[in-house]
Amino acid sequence: MNTVLYYYTGTGNSLWSARLFAKELQTGEPVSLARDPEASRARSVEAVGLIFPVHMWGVPGVVLNFIAHLPADKYYFAVAVNAGQVSATLLQLRKVMAQRGLNLSLGVSLRMPSNYIPWGGPGSSEEIDRRFRQSREKIRQTAPAVRSRQTHPMEKGPWWQRVLFTGIYKMSFPYIAKMDKDFWVDTACNGCALCVKICPVRNIRLQNQKPVWGHGCEQCLACIQWCPQQSIQFGKKTPGITRYHQPEVKAADMLAGAPRK
Ligand SMILES: Cc1cc2nc3c(=O)[nH]c(=O)nc-3n(C[C@H](O)[C@H](O)[C@H](O)COP(=O)(O)O)c2cc1C
Ligand code: SF4
Ligand code: SF4
Repeated sequence: MNTVLYYYTGTGNSLWSARLFAKELQTGEPVSLARDPEASRARSVEAVGLIFPVHMWGVPGVVLNFIAHLPADKYYFAVAVNAGQVSATLLQLRKVMAQRGLNLSLGVSLRMPSNYIPWGGPGSSEEIDRRFRQSREKIRQTAPAVRSRQTHPMEKGPWWQRVLFTGIYKMSFPYIAKMDKDFWVDTACNGCALCVKICPVRNIRLQNQKPVWGHGCEQCLACIQWCPQQSIQFGKKTPGITRYHQPEVKAADMLAGAPRK
């Protein structure tokens, strides 16, 4: 195997995309970066793919931490999975990687359904299907460029997005860890502990059979979206909003990618 695909995901869009890339590139199963935080699998391959969601118009903190462990002298490509506003995410990633001596050769944006539930649901089933179809096609078209180790400019959003939203990303980044203060559980919670196990940074524990958040949150929204009772809420807006996860990704897949302890 000459390529490893690392993914990070809250609701499965990035895992689904990573699986499609794996099929096109004929590599092995994508690896959760939460399972291999030291990037040990990257050392023995020629090419490395990073597939992750755009969070607040930039690269999630988990991905930034992971980059510090990546080896030099590999062919790197990245896939920024988003809901329509990739903004400057891939430019930011290329810059951060360059500062660590890593060369990001290709960066593509995939528009998928939104999992940002505080702003509403993922859209109509027609729109969701359209985004999956278009993403599937884009993955098929991108794979040959990765296979032949091509270099391309990073995909990016319009200039106003890059100016305005990069500013918001920088301002909000230091506060993300504590945004979990707005999570709460309603009476439907049965103490099943799925939220505890599914959190990619182990930020949740049960106390008296109810989740308690530890203020080390990454805002991936896995807990609120995967709770089988739909009993986790965020502020006032989420009761009654349909929960979302990529339909071909199951809770068991998420648990298989969760940190080891
Ligand atoms: C905290 C947070 C911030 C987000 N910010 C953006 C954003 O800036 N631009 C965008 O297009 N989508 C944004 N989204 C939507 C996700 O990037 C998108 O739904 C993605 O497909 C989710 O991938 P996942 O299922 O692998 O986590 C955000 C989602 C979350 C949870
Ligand atoms: S996943 Fe939902 S039902 Fe299960 S413990 Fe967490 S909040 Fe309660
Ligand atoms: S607490 Fe919830 S939103 Fe925060 S990182 Fe864990 S699963 Fe994601």
